[in-house]
Amino acid sequence: MRLILLGAPGAGKGTQATFLCQKYGIPQISTGDMLRAAVKAGTPLGLAAKKVMDSGALVSDDIIIGLVKERIAQADCANGFLFDGFPRTIPQADAMKNAGVKLDYVLEIDVPFEAIIERISGRRSHPASGRTYHLKFNPPKVAGKDDVTGEPLVQREDDKEETVKKRLEVYSAQTRPLVAYYSDWAKADPVNGPRYRAINGTGTVEEITARALQALSA
Ligand code: AP5
Ligand code: ZN
Repeated sequence: MRLILLGAPGAGKGTQATFLCQKYGIPQISTGDMLRAAVKAGTPLGLAAKKVMDSGALVSDDIIIGLVKERIAQADCANGFLFDGFPRTIPQADAMKNAGVKLDYVLEIDVPFEAIIERISGRRSHPASGRTYHLKFNPPKVAGKDDVTGEPLVQREDDKEETVKKRLEVYSAQTRPLVAYYSDWAKADPVNGPRYRAINGTGTVEEITARALQALSA
């Protein structure tokens, strides 16, 4: 299964990725998680990316495309992968198309912007695994601790309200055009193009997982 999860910041891509990757036995490739790991490790990439991420803008296409190409060449991607937060611009999508990366599905998770602010403001994450929780909607078993490792949960630097607004603007301008990009490709080339599916992303986490699994089996 080669799958792209498309959706605004806070739409639930990371949350659903956990279930879908388990179900299909594929690795989650989250460019956001990869960048946050680089920031934490203090690598040159991390130092450069931190400023951009904290402002809510996008890291340059060249850097991201290089990271992903390297990642999908690894052995665990032989049976597929799930892209979470990538591609995010037309040049990133073109880079995959031109490299001949075949896609089975593009799954869009659609959540209205009003719901997103509430989701992001209550988010807490476990940086090492990328697992995410929500204070109200998806709380950890023990407050402030990751369910699997018991390690502390943190709030992301870019989850401040002003930065979230900027991230939503960036999404509308640079990422939303991918909806037409992939749905047009799916219609134009039903044999070799991806299948495009859009689901309503409001409801409980379980309801959305069920919708996703149904969309991906059709
Ligand atoms: P990235 O990490 O990709 O962030 P994002 O796209 O803004 O998405 P989020 O991770 O905020 O949201 P999500 O959809 O994963 O939602 P989640 O499941 O956590 O990118 C961060 C930054 O890195 C970018 O701004 C950019 O600078 C850079 N970057 C990354 N990729 C890049 C690229 N390709 N090119 C250039 N730059 C790049 O859910 C959110 C919250 O809601 C959680 O608390 C969750 O528990 C809760 N929740 C989930 N589902 C539900 C539900 N059904 N009901 C209620 N609450 C729910
Ligand atoms: Zn995420």
